Amino acid sequence: MGTTTFRLIAAAAVVHVVSIATVGVSGQVKVGSDQRTAGQVFDNVQVLKDVTVDDFMTLMGLMTAAVGGDCADCHKDAGTNVVDWAFDTPRKIKAREMSIMVQAINRDHFGGQQVISCWSCHKGRTRPLSTPTLDQVYGEPDLLPEDLVYTSADYLPEPGAIIDRYLEAIGGEARLKAVTTITATGTSLGFRGFGGGGKVELYARRPDQRSMIIRYEAAGRDATVRSYNGERGWIKTPLNVLGEYPLYGSELDGARLDAMLTFPDQIKTALRRLRTLDQQEINGEWLDVVQGDVVGANNMFATLFFDPETGLLVRAVRHGPSPIGRMPTAMHFSDYRDVDGIKLPHDVRFVWLDGRDEIKLDRVQLGAAIDPSRFGRPTEVESLR
Ligand code: HEC
Ligand code: HEC
Repeated sequence: MGTTTFRLIAAAAVVHVVSIATVGVSGQVKVGSDQRTAGQVFDNVQVLKDVTVDDFMTLMGLMTAAVGGDCADCHKDAGTNVVDWAFDTPRKIKAREMSIMVQAINRDHFGGQQVISCWSCHKGRTRPLSTPTLDQVYGEPDLLPEDLVYTSADYLPEPGAIIDRYLEAIGGEARLKAVTTITATGTSLGFRGFGGGGKVELYARRPDQRSMIIRYEAAGRDATVRSYNGERGWIKTPLNVLGEYPLYGSELDGARLDAMLTFPDQIKTALRRLRTLDQQEINGEWLDVVQGDVVGANNMFATLFFDPETGLLVRAVRHGPSPIGRMPTAMHFSDYRDVDGIKLPHDVRFVWLDGRDEIKLDRVQLGAAIDPSRFGRPTEVESLR
């Protein structure tokens, strides 16, 4: 690892990035073309070494979310006050031990199923609660929605009916099937002052190519690029440990799913074993819920939320597995507007464990020609104007 440049993931608690930058970070890592796993790419990954490098970066966001705080809490060497990813701090050693423990609990007590995760105990706290407070026992119950990994019930409508209603609401299957490409420009609003003010470009070609670029005006600031060319995918975000990295794990299946769902008539081919779950209340609205398994090698599933009044898809959440718990990534859709007879969302929020982008699209176009290199490696995609 060199020490000249520093990069770090924009963690769940993005506000803390600045405080890490001011203490200094050492190390920039480049992923070689023959390297797929965290064990191959990094110097000191001992337990989670078989996790693919893309999933490992998301998994670090999962750990951060579970115990609260930010990356530096486990990675800052108290002696030098510098963030050194490979250095073993006491808290990192504890987290490594806990990763072994979580896998052992699932193996020994839950038949190898992913049941217990860091979140099961920590829920965003460094130290989990182990005693009920009596105020809570006799007070208002703390109602959290189900995790949605459970099975369906007979009394619920067929998933196909909910999806058909959505397709009808946005223009009908025949019209949707005729859309070959979607292109758009827009602006990113960012999150807590981070990542805002970017210029957005979206390119998508049926059945499964997609790339989203966010360019920032500030000089020297790298763009955010997520691209998938129908076979391979990449992520590049400013301030991450790796700069650009290729996708091999559940992020790859996720990138394909995002691309396929850009053409909504493909829901039934992108997801298998569709099932309807009980309605869920999100932000005071009851939504219809359909879940399905994501086509791909990584044992992922996705949950779609529809507004029962308008029929529109308002949220899609995909859940990638990891040895220490499921990793959620969400897309929120709103501001549906008509484009040549079909309704497409013009406000898209992308939310994952390593950051969040809110995109406002304008000038959405159907059927425009797209150069295939737009779906390639981010550094190349970024250089195209
Ligand atoms: C709760 C503690 C914890 C937090 C928070 C945390 N990590 Fe880690 N990190 C670990 C552990 C443990 C390992 C080693 C895993 C192993 O040995 O299997 C590790 C390893 C790494 C490595 C590999 C370093 C090397 O060269 O060996 C990188 C890079 C990394 N983390 C980045 C991050 C980033 C970026 C964040 C914030 C999104 C983060 N970590 C948050 C505990 C943490
Ligand atoms: C079965 C419940 C449980 C699970 C699951 C669990 N933890 Fe913990 N963890 C605890 C408890 C309890 C403590 C506090 C121990 C203490 O006070 O000595 C703790 C402490 C920690 C600490 C030290 C906090 C400090 O005081 O500095 C870290 C870091 C940590 N856990 C990370 C993780 C990670 C990462 C995972 C998932 C891989 C995880 N834990 C899963 C129960 C759990």
